[in-house]
Amino acid sequence: MKTLEMPLKGDVTLNLENLSVSFGGLMALNDVTMSLKPNVWNGLIGPNGAGKTTLLNVLSGFLVPTGGSIHLGDENMTGQSTQNWVERGILRGFQMPRLLEGETVFVNIMLGRHRFLSSGLGAQILRLPQYMADEKRDRDACMEIAERLLLGDVLEEPISNLTFGTRRLVEIARLLAAEPKIALFDEPAAGMDPDLRHELVSILAEIQSAGKITAVLVEHDVDLVRRLCPVSHVLDAGRLIAHGATDEVLGLQQVQQAYFGVDHD
Ligand SMILES: Nc1ncnc2c1ncn2[C@@H]1O[C@H](COP(=O)(O)OP(=O)(O)OP(=O)(O)O)[C@@H](O)[C@H]1O
Ligand SMILES: [Mg+2]
Repeated sequence: MKTLEMPLKGDVTLNLENLSVSFGGLMALNDVTMSLKPNVWNGLIGPNGAGKTTLLNVLSGFLVPTGGSIHLGDENMTGQSTQNWVERGILRGFQMPRLLEGETVFVNIMLGRHRFLSSGLGAQILRLPQYMADEKRDRDACMEIAERLLLGDVLEEPISNLTFGTRRLVEIARLLAAEPKIALFDEPAAGMDPDLRHELVSILAEIQSAGKITAVLVEHDVDLVRRLCPVSHVLDAGRLIAHGATDEVLGLQQVQQAYFGVDHD
């Protein structure tokens, strides 16, 4: 099987320090400190309402934290715009896929390539050689990703015709088309039928083992987290209650208690 090429630009750690987000009186994130090392896949787990999606919102510029800081290498990313996060190759998927409903699968995947456009609007209108070259490169990249994500037969279908699981695949394809340096997945396998889920997991495992991408994977299925993420972080009611090697973290009493409601001796 062909491995997707993910050219990435550098090895930088994303450091979150004393990060807080409050909504009125509710602390959705409370003094969270964590370090996301380059090319490592990080599980982010915790019960409903723990603050997982809120953390991804902060790590993509959708939310400005009320306290703390985020640094990408030496660069202070705290409160930067979504565009600045995207330009640095930090890209996210959504718990509910956000796609252009009236457009085709292919057009939606091509949106992921937007950040690579080097030619201006004039060159596009006049179809100058630079634009044509960019477009061919982007089309080829999207075709390859679409094939790998089993979307080859539905490229011309509008999104509104697709099942929920296939929409998820399109969103993941768009994210991969943007060649992320850091990818943030919010429950990518939720709502998929078992066959599709199985395929998705093997695709993600293939990308993970290529070792060229940092990821944060929010997922309730701990077996999936075990398979894809060597390290994990556990949130509970906005607080980071554990982090470390995934197997060890999942065995901790406070994690079992928070996540599964199980209390071991
Ligand atoms: N925009 C908002 N305004 C007010 N409260 C919010 C907002 N977004 C999230 N919250 C609250 O913050 C807390 C954390 O929510 P978040 O969506 O981050 O949880 P989660 O861990 O992703 O949960 P789930 O597993 O259900 O997706 C919850 O109590 C939620 O109700
Ligand atoms: Mg969530």
